[in-house]
Amino acid sequence: MPETVCLAPDDAGLARAAQLLGAGQLVAMPTETVYGLAGDARSDAAVAAIFAAKNRPQFNPLIVHLPDVAAVSRYAVMDDAAARLAAAFWPGPLTLVLPLREDAGLSPLVTAGNTSVAVRVPAHPVARALLAAFGGPLAAPSANPSGRVSPTRAEHVLEGLSGRIAAVLDGGPCAVGVESTIISCDGPPALLRAGGVTVEDAEAVLGAPLARPGDPSRPTAPGQLASHYAPEAAVRLDATEARPGEVLVGFGPVVGDLSLSGSGDLTEAAARLFHTLRAADHLAGPGGRIAFAPIPETGLGRAINDRLRRAAAPRP
Ligand code: TXA
Ligand code: MG
Repeated sequence: MPETVCLAPDDAGLARAAQLLGAGQLVAMPTETVYGLAGDARSDAAVAAIFAAKNRPQFNPLIVHLPDVAAVSRYAVMDDAAARLAAAFWPGPLTLVLPLREDAGLSPLVTAGNTSVAVRVPAHPVARALLAAFGGPLAAPSANPSGRVSPTRAEHVLEGLSGRIAAVLDGGPCAVGVESTIISCDGPPALLRAGGVTVEDAEAVLGAPLARPGDPSRPTAPGQLASHYAPEAAVRLDATEARPGEVLVGFGPVVGDLSLSGSGDLTEAAARLFHTLRAADHLAGPGGRIAFAPIPETGLGRAINDRLRRAAAPRP
């Protein structure tokens, strides 16, 4: 594979990106959550190339990105709950797992052979422009090697995947900074992953509580491995001060070497999370250790804590 090109998100860059995707190549694109590694969701070869570039275990299905609800309805079946969530949060940081239409025409690799498909209508103008220019469904997991920290800037994508993909569209830093919230509407609405849409907001739209992960009768997202989002350094949580040798990441009143948000703002903390994890990893150096200040378990704090617990989990 030749060198990965960094494309500006202008007409020429978008046309080049769409042409590469049409030829079965992979292009990393900015979304409002994190950068996604996009390929044609109808092409077995393109989807297999996504797994190969990420070194991702094949049993882990991918999110299909589409321009609007009408496009979603061509691939998946939306019930009343799905329609309400879509109306409230699309375009935006929400992924719905829905029954797959038999005639969807997606590569079975996208769904890992399941009868459900994960779909999302992103809000980022560059992702939307790319979907329009390409004119088809884009499978896109986060654009990082499997198990590593998700990318929120074009440089992060190049750090992990340079030489393994055709191009990255540089749309600057991602505004939300944590991945989409995943809700299954293949049955009673169930939370599969906390993310950019808060559980509180989703439950307000549904007028009912979501079933939660860990509830043994409920489905879980395949590939929600305990150890994930792992930096090189070891990670300790709920730290109010650094132990000798640790890089402390602060939040609110806990002042660290770095901070997720000095004012204790969860939106700012989410947007900075993965960039700060990388910066702390560089500061800690080989064999280093990172400690994180406590983050409240409300709103976007749930998504942040979910990512931090995975970063701190024992490595396989
Ligand atoms: O914000 C995001 O969601 C980003 C951007 C690029 O859109 N994408 C992302 O993709 O985070 P990825 O592949 O890193 O995470 C997708 C998650 C995985 O945990 C996967 O197991 C789950 O979605 N998933 C995909 N299809 C599914 C399905 N049919 N049923 C249940 N879970 C599914
Ligand atoms: Mg990921």
